[in-house]
Amino acid sequence: MLPAYLPNPIAALAGGGTPIDLGRNLSDGKRIFGEGKTYRGLIIGILAGIGIGLVQIGISGIYGWKNLPEQTYLSITLLATGALLGDLCKSFIKRRLGKERGAKWPIADMYDLVAGSLLLVLIFDPAWLFANMTLLIFILILIITPILHRVVNIIGYHFRVKEVPW
Ligand code: CTP
Ligand code: MG
Repeated sequence: MLPAYLPNPIAALAGGGTPIDLGRNLSDGKRIFGEGKTYRGLIIGILAGIGIGLVQIGISGIYGWKNLPEQTYLSITLLATGALLGDLCKSFIKRRLGKERGAKWPIADMYDLVAGSLLLVLIFDPAWLFANMTLLIFILILIITPILHRVVNIIGYHFRVKEVPW
């Protein structure tokens, strides 16, 4: 899941500049995605996820971690892209619900990247997903994700990378 976990924090570090929705509103008068979703964050975040995936591919097998899922160029691209597309979809729905940028939306803010990344893999590389995903791994992802999310966001808030600690 590393290629899915890395894009969000890297987007928070590297993001800014032109928003993806170019500042436009939908017919409900609210922003399409909001000021927190930028091209720079999206592109650098996805590249970072692919980058860590390339490292995983590079070192796979070296330390006898042969029982870990084998990443492929396709799987790392789908995981990284899906994570930030999930984040983008979440922000779209968040705006429709009238929640401001950065407003708290607990379950969605945590699991958007899991839903997005796994859904993209399910659509474009189901063989990889079914070869590597077990019920146990899925449950571990559901447990680890909120913990990682909370810890990383508190660190980000502390170093003023994020405006809110969630
Ligand atoms: N970010 C970005 N581009 C993205 C995703 C994130 O530039 N595609 C940056 C923004 O600076 C954003 C920060 O990462 O403020 C934290 O991301 P996130 O918590 O997902 O955004 P929020 O600002 O909380 O906005 P939202 O309410 O839409 O979730
Ligand atoms: Mg947020």
